Amino acid sequence: MNSRDRFLAALRRQPHGRAPVWIMRQAGRYLPEYRALKAKSDFVTMVRTPDLAVEVTLQPLRRFPQLDAAILFSDILVIPEALGVGYRFRDEGGIAMERALRSAADVDGLAVAGAADRLRYVYAALAQLRRELGHDKALLGFAGSPWTLACYLVEGGGSEDFPKTKALVKSDPKMMHRILGILAEAVAEYLTRQFAAGADAIQIFDSWAGALQGPDYEEFSLRYIRAVLERLPAGAPVILYAKGKSPQAAALAATGVPCLGVDWTMPLSHVRRLAGRPICLQGNLDPEFMVGDPGAAHAAAMEVLADNADDPGHIFNLGHGITPQARIESFQAVLDAVVASGV
Ligand code: CP3
Repeated sequence: MNSRDRFLAALRRQPHGRAPVWIMRQAGRYLPEYRALKAKSDFVTMVRTPDLAVEVTLQPLRRFPQLDAAILFSDILVIPEALGVGYRFRDEGGIAMERALRSAADVDGLAVAGAADRLRYVYAALAQLRRELGHDKALLGFAGSPWTLACYLVEGGGSEDFPKTKALVKSDPKMMHRILGILAEAVAEYLTRQFAAGADAIQIFDSWAGALQGPDYEEFSLRYIRAVLERLPAGAPVILYAKGKSPQAAALAATGVPCLGVDWTMPLSHVRRLAGRPICLQGNLDPEFMVGDPGAAHAAAMEVLADNADDPGHIFNLGHGITPQARIESFQAVLDAVVASGV
């Protein structure tokens, strides 16, 4: 069975040889070939130039031929940019947006019409990748959830805990709903076009899900994730990653997505019980293991595989993105563990 078939079988919980594997931010700073390209062009240029985005996407697959899927090199912040709010990386680390959304006038100023059209460079990169990968490897697209994108837009950049965004939820929920509605439309159109360009599956990153508690998570995030999903074909191959929300796996599974991306804070077996219906799970090795000793990384990957207990609905991944400090030997040790396993 080739990688792409294995990936799609796992997503549908159909039997296949072993868990497919890919690693988020696989094109990240831990690879010397990525750092070499990055020395010549800045990040945003690389994202906006299909030839460069394709090259960076393929780098990890060349080095690690056992990877089953390629994830497009891009960023979730291309949606805010297409709406007229650009982004850049601060020299001291972290993300700065060109401006923050604070008033109704700021929201009125968003360039809503044609936003998904301005992301043609993404569809061009996906189409080129589909041609280069053929039908052997799975190709993944992605987008931020409306809530996670709103966090960057309202805060005006990255943050530990998004205090201004949380304050707006309380002080002006109507304005927050307006922003989220605009983002849900843009994300739905964007994902539809990623599928049309050749993506086999897409992941929705609700990376800042943990900033919302209790009923607020339903009202300001899940509701808009559902709005996005309703605009996609029923049963579309979507992986929903809501960091910090494994205890709410039942609510996440109730969105109808075929797969949940799981962070490393709860064993897969526990998340599976909480989900309340048969579902594919993606995850969930602690990214810290990629920084340490390869033997420990191998053992930890074996534990994740054992905890999955041979359920065919498992895509092996880290519980979050790989860090710049990751060791190539540890990455390889994890791949070796997965490839040697059988489901
Ligand atoms: O594997 C891949 O390369 C896939 C492409 C990908 C990137 N970002 C490339 C990237 C994906 C899927 C993302 C998603 C993304 N971007 C998310 C959601 C996933 C998550 O991490 O929770 C978020 C929140 C972002 C926003 C973002 N972009 C952050 C927080 C950072 C780190 C900024 C910093 O100062 O460390 C980025 C940068 C980024 N995105 C890099 C890559 C390869 C590193 C850029 C570099 O410094 O070379």
